[in-house]
Parts: sequence; C-alpha cells; structure tokens
Amino acid sequence: MIIEEVTVKLQKRDLVSLADWSREEIWEVLELAKRLKEERKAGIRHDHVLRGKTLALLFQKPSLRTRVSFAVGMEELGGKALYLGPDEVKLGVRETAEDVALVLSRYVHGIMARVFEHAVVEELARFATVPVINGLSDTYHPCQALGDMLTIWERKRRLEGLTLVFVGDPNNVANSLMLACAKLGLRFRLACPQGYGPREEVLELVRAAGGEVEVLHDPRAAVEGADVVYTDVWVSMGEESIAEKKKRDFAGFTVDMELLSNAKPDSLLMHCLPAHYGEELTYEAARSKHSVIFEQAENRLHAQKALLALLLGGG
Ligand code: CP
Ligand code: NVA
Repeated sequence: MIIEEVTVKLQKRDLVSLADWSREEIWEVLELAKRLKEERKAGIRHDHVLRGKTLALLFQKPSLRTRVSFAVGMEELGGKALYLGPDEVKLGVRETAEDVALVLSRYVHGIMARVFEHAVVEELARFATVPVINGLSDTYHPCQALGDMLTIWERKRRLEGLTLVFVGDPNNVANSLMLACAKLGLRFRLACPQGYGPREEVLELVRAAGGEVEVLHDPRAAVEGADVVYTDVWVSMGEESIAEKKKRDFAGFTVDMELLSNAKPDSLLMHCLPAHYGEELTYEAARSKHSVIFEQAENRLHAQKALLALLLGGG
C-alpha cells in the first residue's frame, strides 16, 4: 500500500488531452484556479509555489494568450518560463521530438508545447521525464477548455446540466470542449455545415466519458435553449491552403445578434480568440452583454497556474 502510494507520487502527470483526466482531477484544477484567482485579487502572492522551477514553452505555431499566460503564470508562482519559438528548436526537423523531450528533461521541470500534429505532443510526453502540457495541437486545446469551464462555472454557478452549443468548425478547441462537457456533465451540441462533423476517434472518447454530441446543420435550431454559445475561427492555424473553401462552406454560420436571440436570454457568448470579426462572429456580438471572451482570456492564466502548481509543485 505504502509502496503503491510512493509509485503513484513518483509518476509524472501530463496534460496531453482531457480524455485521460478524471472528473475529480478537472474539478481539482477548477477549485484551485478559483482560489488562486480570488487570492491574487486580494493581493496574496503565490511566489513560493514553484520557486526555482523552469517551464519550457515550445512553440511550432504563433500565440498571444498561451505564451503570455504561461510566462506570467510561472512568474507569479515564483518560477521561470523559457520561450522557444518555431525557428529555434525546429521540432521534428532539426531534432526529433524524442530527443527534444530527453534533452529538455535534463534542464527544466516541465514542458508546455504547441504543435501541429497531436502525435508530436504525445511523443514529447512519452519520452520526457517531466510533465508535458499540451498548449494546443491540431486535435486538442485542453488548457483552453479548462479556462472556459472556469469561466462558465463562475458565471452560471454550476456546470452540470447546462447546454453548450458550438457553432462552427469541429476543431481542436471544440474537441477539448466536447471532452470537458462529457466529463463535467454539460450537454454538447454542434452546429456545422453538411459534410463536417466530429472525428470518430474523438466521439469514441466522448462516449467513453459518458457524454454524447448532437450534430445539427441549422444554427438557429441548434442554439435554442443554449446556456452557452461558443464559436471559433473557421480556418485554424495550419489550414491556410483550404481557407477559401472553408469560408465558403461556413457561410451562414456567423454568430450575430440575431442568432443569439434564439438562445436563452442570459446565454453566454464564448470564443477562445483570436477572432475574425465578420466571419465566425460579428464585432457587435463580441461586444454585447452576452460576451465573456476577455474573461476567458483572463481565466487561461488562473486555470494554468492551478495546473502548474498541481503538476510541477512539491518535490
Ligand atoms: N486562445 C489561444 O490559445 O490563444 P493564442 O493562440 O493567442 O495562444
Ligand atoms: N482553432 C484555432 C484555435 C486558436 C487558439 C487554431 O487552431 O488556430
């Protein structure tokens, strides 16, 4: 028994996808994030939590929120963040993900990686001896979903039983939201054009977590009864070559004030940002009383600080 406990403690924990995180573990992050946020507002410092620890920030793609919130989060917890941009490491080109993971593990206490192929962050996690956090891959964006669940919980005072309707492309952000909703008891509905839909591999994980995804092709019907209307860009990073086709396919799926009027009167409008106003949502909707998009951006900081404290803290 004692040996088992020690083994569990010695095993490093990654956040590659929410699929392998339990409901209880996700709630642990949310509860701690809420506390850290309240205490930060009260002027309480937490710079003892990760003193002397370094997090590598490994990027294959651009970022504003992820880079800044992880860097500031580490600083506020008393640690350091080391930015490694796409042109420095050239992950998978100059060096394999396996070697990068093995080398970085000798220097730093954790690795945050933003990658194209999801398999690359999986490989980093497999070979690193320190925790690996997925800061977005082509398939998932778990840190975004954690910040978003914190935002919804703060605004609605609960998560279970709410209905989240995602209008647009079933992309990385949507995939992580599907998993978060399944784990935390929210209903997930997707409004997307014919010919688009969630990947089967993601649906299987959602079903395994006790959830389901209802797919509709009429955005007006889809948002009926929605507590949360969520949207994201139609063209994700890496999809530039199919941008024109996707913009044509998603015409009619813009979240505007008229569409929001079909949701519940107190519905939240969410977007992970960056936004393309006039495409997936209008500027008017993004600045309306429904919108919590900048709270979401802020909550990335609090959710990730909780995650870092839990994964890198102690020892
Ligand atoms: N939402 C989000 O991850 O933003 P960045 O791409 O700016 O990090
Ligand atoms: N789906 C978007 C999210 C950006 C945070 C992308 O992958 O580009």
